[in-house]
Amino acid sequence: MESKLGRREFTQRALGSLLTFALIDTVRAGDVFASAIRPLMRHWIADLDALGREVKDRKIKQVEWQAKVEELFSKVDLADFLKLIDFETIVKKGEAYKGLGAASLSANFPQVEGIPTKLIFGRQIFALKKGRSVVPHGHNNMATCFLILKGQLQGRHYDRLEDQKEHLIISPTIDKEFGPGGTSSISDVKDNIHWFKALSDSAFIFNIHLIGVSPGLKAPTGRVYVDPAGEKLEGGKIRARLIEHDEADKLYG
Ligand SMILES: [Fe+2]
Repeated sequence: MESKLGRREFTQRALGSLLTFALIDTVRAGDVFASAIRPLMRHWIADLDALGREVKDRKIKQVEWQAKVEELFSKVDLADFLKLIDFETIVKKGEAYKGLGAASLSANFPQVEGIPTKLIFGRQIFALKKGRSVVPHGHNNMATCFLILKGQLQGRHYDRLEDQKEHLIISPTIDKEFGPGGTSSISDVKDNIHWFKALSDSAFIFNIHLIGVSPGLKAPTGRVYVDPAGEKLEGGKIRARLIEHDEADKLYG
Protein backbone atom coordinates (compact mmCIF):
# COMPACT_ATOMS: atom_id res chain seq x y z
CA MET A 1 0.00 0.00 0.00
CA GLU A 2 1.31 3.45 -0.96
CA SER A 3 0.31 4.91 2.37
CA LYS A 4 2.58 2.49 4.21
CA LEU A 5 5.68 3.39 2.15
CA GLY A 6 8.35 5.36 3.85
CA ARG A 7 9.14 8.77 2.39
CA ARG A 8 12.44 7.53 0.99
CA GLU A 9 10.97 4.50 -0.78
CA PHE A 10 8.13 6.59 -2.18
CA THR A 11 10.58 9.09 -3.61
CA GLN A 12 12.57 6.29 -5.27
CA ARG A 13 9.43 4.87 -6.89
CA ALA A 14 8.35 8.28 -8.12
CA LEU A 15 11.75 8.91 -9.62
CA GLY A 16 11.64 5.50 -11.32
CA SER A 17 8.33 6.43 -12.94
CA LEU A 18 9.68 9.76 -14.07
CA LEU A 19 12.65 8.05 -15.73
CA THR A 20 10.34 5.65 -17.53
CA PHE A 21 8.24 8.52 -18.83
CA ALA A 22 11.34 10.37 -19.91
CA LEU A 23 12.51 7.41 -21.99
CA ILE A 24 9.11 7.01 -23.63
CA ASP A 25 9.09 10.71 -24.49
CA THR A 26 12.52 10.44 -26.08
CA VAL A 27 11.48 7.55 -28.28
CA ARG A 28 8.23 9.31 -29.24
CA ALA A 29 10.23 12.31 -30.36
CA GLY A 30 11.92 10.07 -32.93
CA ASP A 31 15.21 10.34 -31.15
CA VAL A 32 15.98 6.67 -31.07
CA PHE A 33 19.73 6.60 -30.76
CA ALA A 34 21.26 5.57 -27.52
CA SER A 35 22.94 8.59 -26.03
CA ALA A 36 26.29 6.79 -26.10
CA ILE A 37 26.45 6.71 -29.91
CA ARG A 38 25.36 10.27 -30.50
CA PRO A 39 28.70 12.04 -30.06
CA LEU A 40 30.44 9.54 -32.37
CA MET A 41 27.95 9.97 -35.17
CA ARG A 42 27.90 13.75 -34.77
CA HIS A 43 31.66 13.80 -34.97
CA TRP A 44 31.61 11.53 -38.02
CA ILE A 45 29.18 13.74 -39.93
CA ALA A 46 31.07 16.90 -38.96
CA ASP A 47 34.34 15.28 -40.19
CA LEU A 48 32.72 14.40 -43.52
CA ASP A 49 31.49 17.96 -43.87
CA ALA A 50 34.92 19.40 -43.06
CA LEU A 51 36.62 17.12 -45.63
CA GLY A 52 34.11 18.21 -48.26
CA ARG A 53 34.88 21.86 -47.60
CA GLU A 54 38.63 21.18 -47.76
CA VAL A 55 38.46 19.55 -51.19
CA LYS A 56 36.17 22.25 -52.56
CA ASP A 57 38.55 24.93 -51.23
CA ARG A 58 41.51 23.10 -52.88
CA LYS A 59 43.15 22.46 -49.50
CA ILE A 60 43.32 18.75 -50.27
CA LYS A 61 43.45 16.93 -53.59
CA GLN A 62 40.49 14.91 -54.86
CA VAL A 63 42.44 11.64 -54.42
CA GLU A 64 43.16 12.60 -50.78
CA TRP A 65 39.46 13.28 -50.25
CA GLN A 66 38.69 9.85 -51.72
CA ALA A 67 41.15 8.11 -49.38
CA LYS A 68 40.05 10.02 -46.27
CA VAL A 69 36.32 9.64 -46.88
CA GLU A 70 36.68 5.94 -47.61
CA GLU A 71 38.59 5.61 -44.34
CA LEU A 72 35.82 7.44 -42.46
CA PHE A 73 33.17 5.32 -44.17
CA SER A 74 34.97 2.10 -43.34
CA LYS A 75 35.12 3.06 -39.64
CA VAL A 76 31.42 3.75 -39.25
CA ASP A 77 29.45 1.46 -36.97
CA LEU A 78 26.82 0.21 -39.42
CA ALA A 79 24.26 -0.56 -36.70
CA ASP A 80 24.49 3.01 -35.40
CA PHE A 81 24.35 4.41 -38.91
CA LEU A 82 21.23 2.43 -39.84
CA LYS A 83 19.46 3.91 -36.81
CA LEU A 84 20.58 7.38 -37.80
CA ILE A 85 18.92 7.21 -41.23
CA ASP A 86 15.76 5.29 -40.24
CA PHE A 87 16.73 2.29 -42.35
CA GLU A 88 13.46 0.43 -41.77
CA THR A 89 11.55 3.09 -43.70
CA ILE A 90 14.17 3.05 -46.45
CA VAL A 91 13.87 -0.74 -46.84
CA LYS A 92 10.09 -0.39 -47.27
CA LYS A 93 10.55 2.30 -49.93
CA GLY A 94 13.09 0.09 -51.72
CA GLU A 95 10.68 -2.84 -51.72
CA ALA A 96 7.96 -0.65 -53.23
CA TYR A 97 10.17 0.42 -56.16
CA LYS A 98 9.16 -1.35 -59.39
CA GLY A 99 11.38 0.37 -61.98
CA LEU A 100 14.59 -0.64 -63.70
CA GLY A 101 17.95 0.17 -62.17
CA ALA A 102 18.22 1.52 -58.64
CA ALA A 103 15.69 3.50 -56.64
CA SER A 104 17.21 6.76 -55.44
CA LEU A 105 15.99 7.55 -51.94
CA SER A 106 16.74 10.55 -49.79
CA ALA A 107 18.76 10.01 -46.63
CA ASN A 108 18.22 12.70 -44.05
CA PHE A 109 20.24 13.07 -40.91
CA PRO A 110 18.35 14.15 -37.79
CA GLN A 111 18.58 17.82 -36.89
CA VAL A 112 20.30 17.57 -33.55
CA GLU A 113 22.84 19.72 -31.84
CA GLY A 114 26.37 19.15 -33.07
CA ILE A 115 25.41 18.09 -36.61
CA PRO A 116 25.95 20.92 -39.10
CA THR A 117 22.56 22.01 -40.43
CA LYS A 118 23.90 22.89 -43.89
CA LEU A 119 26.07 20.03 -45.05
CA ILE A 120 28.36 20.66 -47.99
CA PHE A 121 27.61 17.23 -49.47
CA GLY A 122 24.42 15.74 -50.88
CA ARG A 123 23.41 12.27 -49.77
CA GLN A 124 21.13 9.55 -50.96
CA ILE A 125 20.55 5.84 -50.77
CA PHE A 126 20.31 3.50 -53.72
CA ALA A 127 18.00 0.53 -53.23
CA LEU A 128 18.40 -2.36 -55.67
CA LYS A 129 16.78 -5.69 -56.24
CA LYS A 130 18.69 -8.77 -57.35
CA GLY A 131 20.17 -8.41 -60.84
CA ARG A 132 19.50 -4.65 -61.02
CA SER A 133 22.27 -2.10 -61.21
CA VAL A 134 23.40 1.38 -60.50
CA VAL A 135 24.06 1.51 -64.24
CA PRO A 136 27.56 2.29 -65.60
CA HIS A 137 28.22 6.03 -65.54
CA GLY A 138 30.77 8.69 -64.78
CA HIS A 139 30.47 12.25 -63.53
CA ASN A 140 31.81 15.70 -64.34
CA ASN A 141 33.00 18.03 -61.62
CA MET A 142 31.81 15.70 -58.89
CA ALA A 143 33.25 13.41 -56.24
CA THR A 144 31.21 10.70 -54.56
CA CYS A 145 31.76 7.95 -52.04
CA PHE A 146 29.68 4.78 -51.57
CA LEU A 147 29.07 2.80 -48.39
CA ILE A 148 27.36 -0.58 -48.73
CA LEU A 149 24.65 -0.80 -46.06
CA LYS A 150 23.15 -4.18 -46.85
CA GLY A 151 23.49 -6.96 -49.40
CA GLN A 152 26.16 -8.09 -51.84
CA LEU A 153 27.06 -6.30 -55.06
CA GLN A 154 29.50 -6.68 -57.90
CA GLY A 155 31.20 -3.30 -58.06
CA ARG A 156 33.22 -2.13 -61.04
CA HIS A 157 35.16 1.08 -61.55
CA TYR A 158 37.06 2.43 -64.56
CA ASP A 159 39.46 5.31 -64.99
CA ARG A 160 38.19 7.79 -67.55
CA LEU A 161 41.25 8.33 -69.73
CA GLU A 162 39.92 10.33 -72.65
CA ASP A 163 36.68 11.98 -73.73
CA GLN A 164 35.84 11.58 -77.41
CA LYS A 165 32.82 12.83 -79.35
CA GLU A 166 30.80 9.64 -79.01
CA HIS A 167 32.94 7.52 -76.72
CA LEU A 168 34.99 7.54 -73.56
CA ILE A 169 38.29 5.67 -73.43
CA ILE A 170 38.19 3.85 -70.10
CA SER A 171 40.38 1.40 -68.24
CA PRO A 172 39.16 -1.08 -65.60
CA THR A 173 40.48 -0.37 -62.08
CA ILE A 174 38.20 -2.21 -59.61
CA ASP A 175 36.10 -5.33 -60.16
CA LYS A 176 35.15 -7.11 -56.96
CA GLU A 177 32.32 -8.19 -54.70
CA PHE A 178 31.26 -5.65 -52.09
CA GLY A 179 29.35 -6.43 -48.89
CA PRO A 180 28.12 -4.44 -45.87
CA GLY A 181 30.71 -1.87 -44.80
CA GLY A 182 32.42 -1.91 -48.20
CA THR A 183 33.36 1.46 -49.67
CA SER A 184 34.44 2.93 -52.98
CA SER A 185 34.71 6.42 -54.38
CA ILE A 186 35.04 8.41 -57.57
CA SER A 187 36.41 11.80 -58.55
CA ASP A 188 37.25 13.63 -61.75
CA VAL A 189 40.76 12.19 -61.59
CA LYS A 190 40.40 8.62 -60.26
CA ASP A 191 37.96 5.73 -60.82
CA ASN A 192 35.49 8.11 -62.48
CA ILE A 193 33.15 5.46 -63.92
CA HIS A 194 31.23 3.18 -61.56
CA TRP A 195 28.72 0.35 -61.92
CA PHE A 196 27.20 -1.72 -59.09
CA LYS A 197 25.03 -4.78 -59.69
CA ALA A 198 23.06 -6.42 -56.87
CA LEU A 199 23.91 -10.09 -56.31
CA SER A 200 21.66 -10.60 -53.29
CA ASP A 201 17.84 -10.34 -53.13
CA SER A 202 18.20 -6.70 -52.15
CA ALA A 203 21.07 -4.27 -51.70
CA PHE A 204 21.35 -0.77 -50.25
CA ILE A 205 24.10 1.76 -50.86
CA PHE A 206 24.53 5.05 -49.02
CA ASN A 207 26.43 7.73 -50.87
CA ILE A 208 27.52 11.30 -50.50
CA HIS A 209 28.33 13.55 -53.43
CA LEU A 210 30.15 16.83 -53.75
CA ILE A 211 29.73 19.02 -56.79
CA GLY A 212 32.11 21.73 -58.00
CA VAL A 213 35.34 19.91 -57.13
CA SER A 214 37.08 20.95 -60.37
CA PRO A 215 36.46 24.69 -60.81
CA GLY A 216 36.83 25.65 -64.44
CA LEU A 217 35.64 22.30 -65.75
CA LYS A 218 33.07 23.33 -68.34
CA ALA A 219 31.23 20.03 -68.82
CA PRO A 220 27.80 19.97 -67.14
CA THR A 221 27.67 18.28 -63.75
CA GLY A 222 25.67 15.11 -63.82
CA ARG A 223 25.88 11.55 -64.99
CA VAL A 224 27.63 10.49 -68.19
CA TYR A 225 26.30 7.07 -69.18
CA VAL A 226 28.53 4.63 -71.03
CA ASP A 227 28.44 1.07 -72.27
CA PRO A 228 31.60 -0.61 -70.93
CA ALA A 229 31.08 -3.57 -73.31
CA GLY A 230 32.91 -1.67 -76.04
CA GLU A 231 35.84 -2.27 -78.37
CA LYS A 232 38.87 -3.66 -76.55
CA LEU A 233 41.99 -1.58 -77.07
CA GLU A 234 45.62 -2.18 -76.17
CA GLY A 235 46.60 -2.36 -72.51
CA GLY A 236 43.12 -3.42 -71.34
CA LYS A 237 41.53 -0.11 -72.36
CA ILE A 238 37.98 0.00 -73.72
CA ARG A 239 36.34 2.37 -76.19
CA ALA A 240 33.01 2.77 -74.37
CA ARG A 241 30.06 4.23 -76.29
CA LEU A 242 28.33 7.24 -74.71
CA ILE A 243 24.66 6.35 -74.25
CA GLU A 244 21.48 7.90 -72.89
CA HIS A 245 19.93 7.01 -69.57
CA ASP A 246 17.13 4.96 -71.15
CA GLU A 247 19.58 2.75 -73.05
CA ALA A 248 21.72 2.33 -69.93
CA ASP A 249 18.62 1.17 -68.04
CA LYS A 250 17.66 -1.24 -70.85
CA LEU A 251 21.16 -2.71 -71.08
CA TYR A 252 22.13 -2.80 -67.40
CA GLY A 253 19.27 -1.55 -65.21
FE1 LIG B 1 27.56 8.06 -59.73
